[in-house]
Amino acid sequence: MKSYKIALLAGDGTGKEVTDEAVKVLKAVGNKYSVDFEFEPQLIGGCAYDVYKTPLPDVTLETAKEADAVLLGAVGDWKYDKLPPEVRPERALLGIRKELNLFSNLRPAVVYPELTHISPLKSEIVSGTDIMIVRELTGDVYFGTPKGIEIRNNEKFGFNNMCYYESEIRRIAHVAFRVAMQRNKKLCSVDKANVLDVSRLWREVTTEVSKEYPEVELSFMYVDNAAMQIIRNPKQFDVILTGNIFGDILSDEASMLPGSLGLLPSASLSDGKSAMYEPIHGSAPDLKGQNVVNPIAAVLSGAMMLKYSFNMDNAYKDVENAVRKALKDGYRTKDIYEPGLKLAGTSQIGDIITSNILA
Ligand code: IPM
Ligand code: MG
Repeated sequence: MKSYKIALLAGDGTGKEVTDEAVKVLKAVGNKYSVDFEFEPQLIGGCAYDVYKTPLPDVTLETAKEADAVLLGAVGDWKYDKLPPEVRPERALLGIRKELNLFSNLRPAVVYPELTHISPLKSEIVSGTDIMIVRELTGDVYFGTPKGIEIRNNEKFGFNNMCYYESEIRRIAHVAFRVAMQRNKKLCSVDKANVLDVSRLWREVTTEVSKEYPEVELSFMYVDNAAMQIIRNPKQFDVILTGNIFGDILSDEASMLPGSLGLLPSASLSDGKSAMYEPIHGSAPDLKGQNVVNPIAAVLSGAMMLKYSFNMDNAYKDVENAVRKALKDGYRTKDIYEPGLKLAGTSQIGDIITSNILA
């Protein structure tokens, strides 16, 4: 029997509630396909700080490095807002991304037909939207140096450095082109090349890489225009390739197309075994313990793990179909509930998805 080790980093707030459901679903998949998923829980974020005085303890990092994949819930709680920046829960995310070399972040935004009308945008604009954002995750102004706050000219001066090596651009571009090849073969690279030198290099390298993928139609867009086009006509996009900070912003924007943050999974991949899967929503500490948050993003993150880490394409489709069936049958958590449908709690949705898989 095949066996995989999964580091289970539930994190803070409602992280555990949603990862519990993802685990339930993965175990059902394991049963169906005779694969053994072994979960190893460790602390990350604020809860880790409480115990270890650091949001990313060594034991967590080691477990993540040794595992075949990482399933993460969410980090952060207002409780920790006053901590110094180096030990804030978010630091754990940046740390684990860098340490595991998770340079490629896939963030799909898919509008399900059952939910078209819950989008804040008009149905005719969003229906049929299926975008994959490929965001570079370990470079850019997030990690660039020099950085800091110091005194210059007798006043405080804050600075960061937006920078990319061509090798960093090349490897993420290859990921995006390969993703595009599996989809509709359209790639839009987003930058700010009318102003930034680093973006001019981004374009140059992306154009070079494109020669290896003649079937993919490559276009370029400035980030301000892209922010507008995602709202104006999201269906024009298939795959979007962009750097760390533009991807951070555009992926939050795109997450509103489907109508709820609670629906969107993500995968962060390296060029080796290391990979991390997490819902893109936060930890929602105010909702903790109420069994109301939507586990679908976490469940679909588990599905992405099946596809990208374990090559279990059929199992991936099973989970996606099971989620769609739950929605079709009218089950809704509070964030996507409408009168006349069946209001369900976090664990109930997980149970329904699980039984759909085993049916
Ligand atoms: C994300 C988040 C993180 C980021 C924060 C929490 C550090 O916004 O995953 O998009 O900026 O990358
Ligand atoms: Mg973000």
